[in-house]
Amino acid sequence: MCGIVGYIGKREALPILMDGLRRLEYRGYDSAGVAVLNGDLHVVKAVGKIASLDQALSDLTIPGTNGIAHTRWATHGVPSEENAHPHIDCHGKIALVHNGIIENYSELRESLKVAGHIFRSETDTEVLVHLVEHLLNFPGTTLADAVRSAVRRIRGTYGIAAFRLLEPEQIVVARLGSPIVLGVGDGEMLVASDANAIIGHTRQVVFLDDGEMAVLTADGYRVSSLDNLPVKKSPEQIDWNVEDAQKNGYAHFMLKEMHEQPEVMRNSTRGRLDVTNGNAILGGLRDVADRTREIDRLIIVGCGSAYFAAQVGEYMLEEYAGIPVEVELASEFRYRKPIITARTAVLAVSQSGETADTLAAIREAKMKGALTLGIVNAVGSTIARETDAGVYNHAGPEMGVASTKAFLSQATVFALLTLFLGRQRQMSVTTGTRIAEELARIPDLVAGLLARQDEYRTVAEKYSWAKDFFYLGRKYCAPLAFEGALKLKEVSYIHAEGYGAGEMKHGPIALIDETFPSIVLCPEDSVYEKTKSCIEELRARRGKVIAITTEGNQEIRQIADDVIFIPKTLEMLTPLLAIIPLQLFAYHMSVLRGFDPDRPRNLAKSVTVE
Ligand code: AGP
Repeated sequence: MCGIVGYIGKREALPILMDGLRRLEYRGYDSAGVAVLNGDLHVVKAVGKIASLDQALSDLTIPGTNGIAHTRWATHGVPSEENAHPHIDCHGKIALVHNGIIENYSELRESLKVAGHIFRSETDTEVLVHLVEHLLNFPGTTLADAVRSAVRRIRGTYGIAAFRLLEPEQIVVARLGSPIVLGVGDGEMLVASDANAIIGHTRQVVFLDDGEMAVLTADGYRVSSLDNLPVKKSPEQIDWNVEDAQKNGYAHFMLKEMHEQPEVMRNSTRGRLDVTNGNAILGGLRDVADRTREIDRLIIVGCGSAYFAAQVGEYMLEEYAGIPVEVELASEFRYRKPIITARTAVLAVSQSGETADTLAAIREAKMKGALTLGIVNAVGSTIARETDAGVYNHAGPEMGVASTKAFLSQATVFALLTLFLGRQRQMSVTTGTRIAEELARIPDLVAGLLARQDEYRTVAEKYSWAKDFFYLGRKYCAPLAFEGALKLKEVSYIHAEGYGAGEMKHGPIALIDETFPSIVLCPEDSVYEKTKSCIEELRARRGKVIAITTEGNQEIRQIADDVIFIPKTLEMLTPLLAIIPLQLFAYHMSVLRGFDPDRPRNLAKSVTVE
C-alpha cells in the first residue's frame, strides 16, 4: 500500500521525510521519492527500497522546511523512477503525492493532452497534478481551490498531499477512501497516510474523513469540506506504539488484512463491474481479447492458496463461461509434458508474482506457444511482466505470511474473469447482470461476517484440544475445504486435511472418532443434501462436526455439534463468504495456542526458490 509523509514548520524537512518513509516500509512498496520547497522545487525519486533513495540523495544538499514524500505500491504502471511519486506539473512548479486509484484517469489524461499537457509517467496519479495545474490557470485560483476542483472531477479513491512554488508556506491535503492523518506540532505540522510515520514527532493527530481536505501551515491547519465549508476538527491524543500503528491497532497483520477484505474486494472490482451489460471491464486483457475469445482450453497454475483459488475459478469458468479448465499445481505442471495448442491459454495465479514454480510453469507454457495470462497482486512482478496479459488484484501488499485478502481477491477476480470470458461466449446479459449485481453485494456481506468474529473465536476455544481436523466440502466448497485446512496448518500447526466430502467413504472416514473433529461446508447449494448426509455419516461414528451453512437453516443445527451461518448468495459466490469463518477460525486457533500467526515457523511469504 502506498505511503505519504509531509512536513511544514521550522525544522529541515528532508530528514523528517526520510524518517517517515522508513516507518512506512512495512506497508510494502517498490519505489519512493521526496519533494522539498526552498525557493525552488527539488524532486528526487528512486526505484527499490528507501536505501536506493538514500543513495540518490547522498551527494545532494536540499535545505527547506516544506516537503512531501511517498512510497509507491504500483497499481498503474510498473515500478520505475518515472512512475514513482511525487509527480510534478509541466513546468516543475507543483508537486503531488497520491494514494488510491483514479478510475477515470484515461479520459482525463486524453483531455489534458489535448490541452497541451506533457505526461512523463504511465500512472493514474500524474493526471491529478496536471489537472491541478490546468485549474490554476484561472486567475485568482489558489492551490486549495484547484485541488478541491480537481478531486471533484475524478472517480475513485484518493489520499493527496500537494504544494507549489507560488504558495510555499502551505501543503494542501485531501482524502476520499485512502487515509490521511495530520500531526499537530509546536510551530510545525505533519501529514501522513498512517500515524506510524509521524508519532515520533507528535501524538496530537487529526484524522481526516472522506470528502474533507485541509491546508497546513507552520502555524496550524484548516479543514474544510469539498464545498469549502469549514469543518471543526480538534486534535486527539494517540497512545499507540510504533508496531501497533503499523497494524492500525490490530493485534496481527493477518487480522488487519482479514478485516481489510471488504475494501480489498471493492478495490479488486473498482471500475471493472459493468452491471448493465452483465460484463467485466478488464483493461489488462483488452489487447488479447480476440485471442481469449478463441481459446478452447484453459490451464490454471499456482501454488498453495493461489492453487485453491484457481480451483474455485475452475468451477465458475466451467459452469458460466463454458470453457474446459484444468487446475494444475505449478510444481507438477512444470515437469509434466502438458499438451498445449495455439488455442490453449495458461493462467498463473500468484499474489507475489515471484513464486519460482509458478514462474517456471508459465515459461514452459510460453515456450509451447500458449497464450499466457496472470492474476497477480504485485504490480510489475516477474510473472506479471512475463505473461502476455493479466489482471491485477489491487489487494495492496499482504504482510501476513498466510494468504487471506489475497485469496479472497483472487476468487473475486475469477468471478470477473468468468463474466469477461462468459460474455465472449454463451453467457446472456441476464445471467451476467445477475452475477455482477450479486458480486457487488459481497463486500458488505463479508463485513457482516467479520463483525461476528467472536463467534468463530468461541468455536476455536471449544475445539482447541483437537490435534486433527478434516475440512470437507463439495463443488464450489471443495477448494475451500483445502484452503481452510491449509490456513489451520500454517498458522496453528494442527494437522488438518481437506477433502471433497464425497471422498470420505472411500477411506478417510476410518479416522473418525470423538477425537477427530470435522469442519463441513454445507451451504444450501446444489449439493446440500449430499453434504448433509456426510455430516450424518460422521456423527454416526461419534465424529464432532462444525458445520458452515446458510443463515436461516434449521436442519443442520439438529445434526451438527456447532453451526456457523453465512448469508445466502449465488452458489458460485459462496466461497467468497464461506472463507471468512475459516480464516478467522485458523487465526484464533493460532493465537489460542500461543503462536504468532504473522510469522509461522518454517514458512516464507514468497517461495522464490524451488
Ligand atoms: C498461503 O497462505 C501461503 N502463504 C502459500 O501457500 C502461498 O499461497 C503460495 O506460496 C503461493 O504464493 P503466491 O500467491 O505469492 O504465488
